[in-house]
Parts: sequence; structure tokens; C-alpha cells
Amino acid sequence: MAEIQNVGVVGCGLMGHGIAQVAAQAGYEVVVREVDQATLDKGLGKIDKQLARAVERGKAEQADADGVRARIRGTLDYADLSPCDLVIEAITEDLELKRAMWREVDGIAKDDAYFATNTSSLPVIAQAAATSRPERFLGLHFFNPAQVMKLVEVIRCVTTSDEAFGVGVEFTQTIGKIGVQTRDSAGFIVNRLLVPYLLDGMRAYEEGVGTITEIDEAMKAGAGHPMGPLTLSDFVGLDTLGSICDVLFDEFREKRFARPPILRKMLAAGWYGRKSGIGFYDYSGEAPAENPGLVR
Ligand SMILES: NC(=O)c1ccc[n+]([C@@H]2O[C@H](COP(=O)([O-])OP(=O)(O)OC[C@H]3O[C@@H](n4cnc5c(N)ncnc54)[C@H](O)[C@@H]3O)[C@@H](O)[C@H]2O)c1
Repeated sequence: MAEIQNVGVVGCGLMGHGIAQVAAQAGYEVVVREVDQATLDKGLGKIDKQLARAVERGKAEQADADGVRARIRGTLDYADLSPCDLVIEAITEDLELKRAMWREVDGIAKDDAYFATNTSSLPVIAQAAATSRPERFLGLHFFNPAQVMKLVEVIRCVTTSDEAFGVGVEFTQTIGKIGVQTRDSAGFIVNRLLVPYLLDGMRAYEEGVGTITEIDEAMKAGAGHPMGPLTLSDFVGLDTLGSICDVLFDEFREKRFARPPILRKMLAAGWYGRKSGIGFYDYSGEAPAENPGLVR
């Protein structure tokens, strides 16, 4: 089995910063690429905060946290990914952007490097086919927050070699995650089941079945979920969720995957959830409060 030492992460947003941190915590040297310095600094800042919190809570020694941080290098230059044995992409959920990005990475990466996508919904093969090495390409689908959530869906597309798939499985184990193998079918296992549920939570709100808080409280107390569907939608990012449901709807043509009107309106208003400070909840105060624009 090929040995992975250097890991590249493309995108340092919600998922990319977490994947970079998890890989560095497992001892890998990590290079993370963003499109501009401000976004890169924001993502690296989140890693700094997470590590500082772990030290404060006595979950990590300062020296270990410093070691993790020292293994993560941010860059704006694709060329810095050239020493990487494995490159994982976590950029915006847009197939054309991802394909264009892979063409750049493919041009500078080592011939024997492996590529993985963290896409939530897009077919893995559509990205693999944009590279000169579709046999070395697989899906590694992390969950949010990547530092905490145990699952990684390891996705074999039609071109993925047994060796590349084995590298993905082994990498998942070395970073302490639970790998579950899935086929290259839109949404894989978790989002195929979860996304219609989140959209149903929005529809229930739209139809007046309950308030935002009541729907969330009901699913927490009644189904034992750690978060209600509207809180979770804000947490995923409503823009990302919108892109995911479009891909699933396009693939399956089923109403349960269609964007509810309320989601369309919220996206038009620029309400993306936690990441923009407002979604189903307004996050500007001490504690999240129902978005006043939705309740009036
Ligand atoms: N949000 C979730 O809960 C979640 C969970 C699992 C997987 N995903 C998937 O992970 C990917 C990223 O989602 P996210 O929630 O982190 O989105 P995000 O919007 O928080 O981050 C995406 C980042 O990619 C950057 N980017 C765009 N093009 C780039 C390029 N060419 N090179 C480097 N950086 C680039 C953007 O500047 C942005 O910071 C998507 O494919 C999404 O479907 C998301």
C-alpha cells in the first residue's frame, strides 16, 4: 500500500479547515489552499481557536497543539500541493468549479498522488474524469464538524482502482474515523436519507405545523436527535444544502429532494445559516433566536 505522508486540502471553509486539522492531528504534513488571503486566514483562525479550546479544556497539551498547527501550512498557490501524496478537495459544491480546480491540481501533482473529493452530492466519476488519473480518484466524504464527527463515507467510483480505494480506507483509519463504503450514487448513504428529512422540516415550518423552535425541540426530545432539522440546516449552510438538494433532485426527479419555497427565499435574501450569521435563527445575540424576518 502506498504510504501517505503529505496531504493537500483544497478549500479552507467549513469542511476544509476541519479536514486539514484532523489530518495534522494524525501526524500528516498538510498544505491547505484557498482562493484569497482573507478566506485562508479565516479558516486557519478557526483551527487556531479549536486547538486553543482543546488546550483550555485539558484535552490537549500546548506542545501537541503547537505541533499540530506547525504541520498545517496555508497557501494560495496550487504549486505548493506538488509534494502531496493525497489531495482532498473541499471547495464549493459546484461541479464546474471542482473540475476546473482538478485540472489545475492534476497539472502539478506527483504522478502517483491520489485524489479525493469531499462532495456531498455530486457524482465522484464526474470529477475523476476531469483528471488524467481517474483510477487514483475516490470520494472521502467527511461530516460537519470534521474534527468531531466519526464517519467518513469512502466512495468507489467506476474507475477507482482497488489500490486507491485501499488507500482511502487506510487513511480513514489512521485519522481515527469510521469508514463506511458506499457506491457512487448521488448523496451516498447519509445525505440521501438526511436531506429529504431536513427539507421536510422546512416544509413543516412553511405549513405551520410548528414554530422553528417547536419543530427543533420536538425532534430533539421526541427522536433523540442532538439538533433539530432547522438548526442542523443552518449548521450545514443553507447555500450548500440548496446545491445538494438540486443535485439530488436532478438525479432522482423526486419531490422529496426539491427546494422548498422558503429555502429559495432565504437564499435570495443572503441568509445562509450560521456562516452568514442568520438563517432559521439569528446568531447575532448571546443565544440563537428565531429569525424575525421569518416569523412576522
Ligand atoms: N457543509 C457541510 O455540512 C458539508 C459536509 C460534508 C461535505 N460538504 C462538502 O464539502 C465541500 C465544501 O463545503 P463547505 O461547507 O466547506 O463550503 P464553504 O463555502 O464553507 O467552503 C468552500 C471554500 O472553498 C473555497 N474555494 C472555492 N474554490 C476554490 C479553489 N479553486 N481553491 C481553493 N479554495 C476554493 C471557497 O473560498 C470557500 O472558502 C462541498 O463539496 C460540500 O458539499 C459539506
